[in-house]
Amino acid sequence: MSENVPANVSGPGIVPGSVRIFDTTLRDGEQAPGAGLTVAEKIEVARQLVRLNVDVIEAGFPASSPGEFEAVHQIAKETRGVAVAGLARCKDGDPQRAVEALRVAERPHLHVFIASSDIHLKHKLRISRDEALLAAAKWVGYGRKALGRDAEIEFSAEDATRTDIDFLMKLYEAAVEAGASTLNIPDTVGYAIPAEFGQLVGQVVERFGSVATISVHCHNDLGLATSNTLAALQNGARQLEVCVNGLGERAGNASLEEVVMGIKTRPTQFPNLATRVVSEQITPASRLVSYLTGFAVQPNKAIVGGNAFAHESGIHQDGVIKNPLTYEIMTPQSVGLSGSQLTIGKLSGRRGLREKLHSLGHEVDGEALDALYAQVIALADAKKEVTDGDLLAIVEQRATVVPNTIRLQGWSVTSSHGGRATGTITLSVTGETRSIEASGNGPVDALYGATDRALESVLGWRPILDEYEIKAVSAGEDAQGQVVVRVHRSTEERHDAFVATGHGLSTDIIEASVAAYLSGAEKLQQEAIARAAMLDEARASGHTPEKVERLP
Ligand code: KIV
Ligand code: ZN
Repeated sequence: MSENVPANVSGPGIVPGSVRIFDTTLRDGEQAPGAGLTVAEKIEVARQLVRLNVDVIEAGFPASSPGEFEAVHQIAKETRGVAVAGLARCKDGDPQRAVEALRVAERPHLHVFIASSDIHLKHKLRISRDEALLAAAKWVGYGRKALGRDAEIEFSAEDATRTDIDFLMKLYEAAVEAGASTLNIPDTVGYAIPAEFGQLVGQVVERFGSVATISVHCHNDLGLATSNTLAALQNGARQLEVCVNGLGERAGNASLEEVVMGIKTRPTQFPNLATRVVSEQITPASRLVSYLTGFAVQPNKAIVGGNAFAHESGIHQDGVIKNPLTYEIMTPQSVGLSGSQLTIGKLSGRRGLREKLHSLGHEVDGEALDALYAQVIALADAKKEVTDGDLLAIVEQRATVVPNTIRLQGWSVTSSHGGRATGTITLSVTGETRSIEASGNGPVDALYGATDRALESVLGWRPILDEYEIKAVSAGEDAQGQVVVRVHRSTEERHDAFVATGHGLSTDIIEASVAAYLSGAEKLQQEAIARAAMLDEARASGHTPEKVERLP
């Protein structure tokens, strides 16, 4: 087997890479309300997608904002061995901006789309079918010319599953003639049923399969996104558009882990077909995306849910002990859940920690390992046992540390049964120290109120708390508490605002709550500065980003 072929793909006749995995977590996934990521966080996710070995990373929609442009551009610049895609409407300005962002990519992949169903043409775009045809041909042609013959040019007919089939074929024909090399069939509103979707895909494959790669992009409004995607594969689609954890608009997109493990677990249903995905990287990818977006994975979610490999009933436990095949159709190790028996405690060494992290899908060395080691040993002093959950929570937190302009110097709080809580917080904000006292319904409310006043007096805004969530990272009374908050700036309207996710981790839940609020505020501050700079730069180079309506 060639060294480029991951060990997870094997077996007679299986052709690794014969199914192209197009990951759109950073574009469609990030459109999920409240899932906003900073440029740095998007780059972090892109690096994990490279480890996962997907074929295409759709990094964003460059024309939608200077931040999106920057993220796509940076990811295109640094990513090697994986194609980088940017989305564009068939509309003057969009494809040019996407091409500008993607030009530096080793493998640029321009993704242009236009709505094709009468409902969308009439009520959303207010154009005729002929106008849509012309626009599709024009902008596909532009992309081909601008990026050259080796680039991938993908054309999507938005709302394809509610589009008149003859018109859909005409659109695809126009796109292919203009230079499209991939034709995507989006089930934009998650309307299709597997047998009917498979049939539609089969028709497109029959007509265009010899001149273009046929792709599908399924939404999950009826809970059928994975089923539709796999039905499409059985009918000739060879690019599958998916998101980690099934993230995405509304009910989300087809989930990467379900589609990839479906193909891998049932090879006889997909003869000769295999993805290149390193399935052991699925759990780290799922955790990272969940952590950064603040979207928890439901416990019973297939493949990556906390209960996906848990066996509660005695009969099941007995079977699994005798032979895991009785109730497990894949091994936990194959999706990156640790099979290692190593436990970490006060007496563990750096090497043991490195091994353990490796078994959890994280490669940590050098100074990063030293810093992590110190933190883990401190935790081992505070609690009996450092669990896998503890370790992963610490690694993830370190991966997203942002430079501090807001520093915590101390806090104290008193609260009592039936009374109000009173707390004082001391912060250094851009170098100015503020010590503020406030009262509230409870200790967290009091400290958040004091923080608000401190930040407002220096920055002119305060965080507005949209969501607060606390969970124990592991079992036991001494478990670490992980707090996740969503915040936006008081000077922005909620529906328009950048929403930051803040995290805090501590065995003291008030400390974790304060840390989460401050990390969210820090991100808001950093993002405001970065966005202002990117907007100035975009204006200086002649781009005034218009407001883009939400995408499907
Ligand atoms: O759902 C959809 O139709 C899309 C397109 C832009 C591919 O996301
Ligand atoms: Zn979509």
